[in-house]
Amino acid sequence: MCSLAAVFVAIAALLYSPSLSATSSPQLNYRPIIGILAQENIPGDPHAQGSSYIAASYVKYLESAGARVVPIRINRTYDEYVKLFYSINGLLLPGGDVDLQKSQYSRLSKIFYDLAIKANDASDYFPVWGTCQGFQQLTVLSSSKNLLTLTNTTAVALPLMFTQAAQNSRMFKSFPKDLLQSLSEQNITANFHSWSLSMQNYTRNVKLKRFYKVLSTNTDGKKEFISTMEAYRYPFYAVQWHPEKSPFEWIEKPGMVHTPTAVRVSFYTASFFVTETMKNQHRFSSPSEEEKALIYNYTPVFKGLNSIFMQNYYFD
Ligand SMILES: *[C@@H]1O[C@H](CO)[C@@H](O)[C@H](O)[C@H]1NC(C)=O
Ligand SMILES: *[C@@H]1O[C@H](CO)[C@@H](O)[C@H](O)[C@H]1NC(C)=O
Ligand SMILES: *[C@@H]1O[C@H](CO)[C@@H](O)[C@H](O)[C@H]1NC(C)=O
Ligand SMILES: *[C@@H]1O[C@H](CO)[C@@H](O)[C@H](O)[C@H]1NC(C)=O
Repeated sequence: MCSLAAVFVAIAALLYSPSLSATSSPQLNYRPIIGILAQENIPGDPHAQGSSYIAASYVKYLESAGARVVPIRINRTYDEYVKLFYSINGLLLPGGDVDLQKSQYSRLSKIFYDLAIKANDASDYFPVWGTCQGFQQLTVLSSSKNLLTLTNTTAVALPLMFTQAAQNSRMFKSFPKDLLQSLSEQNITANFHSWSLSMQNYTRNVKLKRFYKVLSTNTDGKKEFISTMEAYRYPFYAVQWHPEKSPFEWIEKPGMVHTPTAVRVSFYTASFFVTETMKNQHRFSSPSEEEKALIYNYTPVFKGLNSIFMQNYYFD
């Protein structure tokens, strides 16, 4: 089996595989810094300080896979956001509960989305990830419309119904086979959303259909909705489910899953995205600018075991 000839064949395949040379980046940036959007506080939040928050689970999720995090705070000037965009290596739009057309979260999303489109069009590889509300926000940005519909999916764990396209997708192709099988068979993706993008509205909207490739769907029993997608021509990724909850959120509720497999899924999604962010060379203008911006300057607040988010970072 392990003859010298086989080794030569393997080396030759490595050297001459066109796909490998096309995807290998000469200089990955192993110190990626990812921006996470803050959003308006949930009304009545007894722990709130200031006007906005980031759930700490999203921070830990990215940190677990080798990234550092910078909070992107609301109510800043356009110029500050532009400067920040060229200082960070990727963007995560987290879940939450704000208006997708009128909130500060939606304003910031649009600013960064437009900058990300522009950068990628100029071969400056800038990845964007949306989770739950972040997924929904991306659909609004890409179609310039809110095409979401109510589904019965506020607290349920589901298996992913993979499409044909999933196999060769950027997101899933590096996942271990056994993990993909578990994802397709076990109820391990946490769904905590009232709104969804139905397959019907996706299919009818030319902008969405041309922009995103559907990797998995789910149904609430009545409507089939998109649970995972990635953009065809941009490093943009969206999950309607919550990979960050399995390892980092602990409220006791239907839909919360902490099995080793669910935790592995979380890590593989984070690792995939963090690796994507290693492909650009954005950086802060100086080490002290970087130091001032990092999330380490803030302390998360423990909200209690019955809270939907264990810990939040709050901002003025
Ligand atoms: C920030 O924006 C929110 C929502 O637009 C607004 O209600 C709030 O007054 C602003 N806060 C500050 C400090 O400007
Ligand atoms: C399609 O989008 C519209 C909003 O434009 C929404 O009212 C409707 O419920 C959606 N239908 C489905 C089946 O998703
Ligand atoms: C919503 O889904 C849950 C299971 O997740 C089910 O128990 C419940 O009956 C459903 N409600 C409606 C109105 O269909
Ligand atoms: C698991 O997911 C399936 C949908 O594929 C659903 O019918 C079933 O109710 C789910 N089971 C649990 C325990 O949530």
